[in-house]
Amino acid sequence: LRTAAVIPAAGRGVRLGPGAPKALRALGGTPMLVHAVRAMAASRAVSVVVVVAPPDGATEVRNLLDQYPLSERTDLLVVPGGDTRQESVRRGLDALPEAVDVVLVHDAARPLVPAETVDSVVAAVRDGAPAVVPALPLADTVKQVEPRTGGRTGEPEPVVGTPERALLRAVQTPQGFDRATLVKAHETVALQGDGATDDAGMVEQLGAPVVVVPGHEEAFKVTRPLDLILAEAVLARRRA
Ligand code: CTP
Ligand code: MG
Repeated sequence: LRTAAVIPAAGRGVRLGPGAPKALRALGGTPMLVHAVRAMAASRAVSVVVVVAPPDGATEVRNLLDQYPLSERTDLLVVPGGDTRQESVRRGLDALPEAVDVVLVHDAARPLVPAETVDSVVAAVRDGAPAVVPALPLADTVKQVEPRTGGRTGEPEPVVGTPERALLRAVQTPQGFDRATLVKAHETVALQGDGATDDAGMVEQLGAPVVVVPGHEEAFKVTRPLDLILAEAVLARRRA
């Protein structure tokens, strides 16, 4: 079975604040996207990496990645992304070579995922699960609320319920899929308002089974400025 990793990297990173597109921001002196590509290539199973670049930035991203060559066993493709993550992933899937039958989808914004996590997701797909998600138990209790749509942020919101924390998992990437299942989900499931933020959720809508395997603390998503500080600290600890 040939395994490919699609890396959606087309987002602007609005929550991180002003600056370059999030995937191109430096982490330990190296673009976040380069860390993410290396994290996928570090798994022996992965033989193709498809990077989905900002819509008008595919050439720039290709030139950037050419400065950080991978080992010869990994092929690298770069394609332009779309307005939503869902659309970007679809464009990555469209670029997959024919021989690929297992697909990982990995956020460029999770640059520090360890190779063991990648390997365990691939192994679960190869063992027959059509969709596999790495995830961790939650530290915080979660409340469901009635959102104040159009309201000012900070306005009190009524609580609707409190799901039992022990039953919840916070999902990460890489999520792993049987290729045909993921392609079908992307062909069938309607484009949601902001686009799906979770590929496994689209497979669930198909009615196909999705399983969770243990995620990793270091697979956290760089979303807000504090996450960059944490990522720098994790890198520094690895290099010590
Ligand atoms: N992504 C993408 N195409 C989009 C939007 C997001 O490829 N149109 C990618 C991002 O580059 C990121 C991953 O999806 O690697 C997860 O998205 P998120 O963390 O939300 O990143 P951004 O959308 O860039 O950040 P923000 O929502 O704060 O703008
Ligand atoms: Mg986003």
